[in-house]
Amino acid sequence: MTVQLNGKIALVTGGSTGIGLAAAKDLASKGARVFITGRRQKELDEAVLAIGPAATGIRADVSVNSDLDQLYAQISKAAGKLDILFANAGGGDMLPLGAITAEHVDRIFGTNVRGLLFTVQKALPLLTEGASIILTSSTTSIKGTPNFSVYSASKAAVRNFARSWALDLKDRGIRVNAISPGPIRTPGLGGLVPEDAQQGLFDYLASQVPLGRLGEPKEVGEVVSFLASDAASFINGTELFVDGGQAQI
Ligand SMILES: NC(=O)c1ccc[n+]([C@@H]2O[C@H](COP(=O)([O-])OP(=O)(O)OC[C@H]3O[C@@H](n4cnc5c(N)ncnc54)[C@H](OP(=O)(O)O)[C@@H]3O)[C@@H](O)[C@H]2O)c1
Repeated sequence: MTVQLNGKIALVTGGSTGIGLAAAKDLASKGARVFITGRRQKELDEAVLAIGPAATGIRADVSVNSDLDQLYAQISKAAGKLDILFANAGGGDMLPLGAITAEHVDRIFGTNVRGLLFTVQKALPLLTEGASIILTSSTTSIKGTPNFSVYSASKAAVRNFARSWALDLKDRGIRVNAISPGPIRTPGLGGLVPEDAQQGLFDYLASQVPLGRLGEPKEVGEVVSFLASDAASFINGTELFVDGGQAQI
């Protein structure tokens, strides 16, 4: 199967590091022009250099609606349309039930749920007939993890968005799918614990995966390009796990 994205315009939110950066590189390598976002300008500039001339960086926080308005105004002016939307910006930290604060809930849901929702809703005028929307969920959408309930609930919400929005957008032939990574070696995963505890976390997580290792961001990026392409033209509303089997056992 050859994935080819020549002439396609893509947006990857959270495209400056980790999974988003790998996806942006892969989309560009298959011919797409790629807009990427993130909040930190330095990481954004470095990512644009790493992806190459097909990339444009636009600083935008997905939890701020005026940033999204400004983002889509720039894409509209520069490209006039959007064929691929990878709504990926997100993350979370850990707190056990009993210690959860309103700030923790608002921050995680503000980015992973509200921010992702408005990322997609505000893109609708630019999305072409037959466009592909890919939402980053997580294996936590269907699993319990101690101290990670707020993040996990936010990713369960994302998974449902894919089901419901596939129906809301059916008249435009727009496909909406969720991608659920298992543990992927990214700055976001390492940042869950202090630096001296990272190797221990990685070793533990790898031991939970049937393939016995963490995933690499590139392995998720390639699946994003597949879902974005005509090779996935009858895949809609699904949750595609890229987890080495972790959540399947
Ligand atoms: N790594 C894993 O094991 C794993 C597993 C399952 C799901 N996921 C999900 O995969 C996605 C990417 O995570 P990652 O592991 O690649 O983490 P990462 O390396 O920390 O990358 C996160 C990206 O999102 C951006 N970002 C974060 N908050 C943002 C906001 N409010 N507005 C705009 N951009 C924002 C970050 O840039 P700035 O910080 O500069 O904004 C960065 O570009 C997340 O949704 C995460 O929940 C990751």
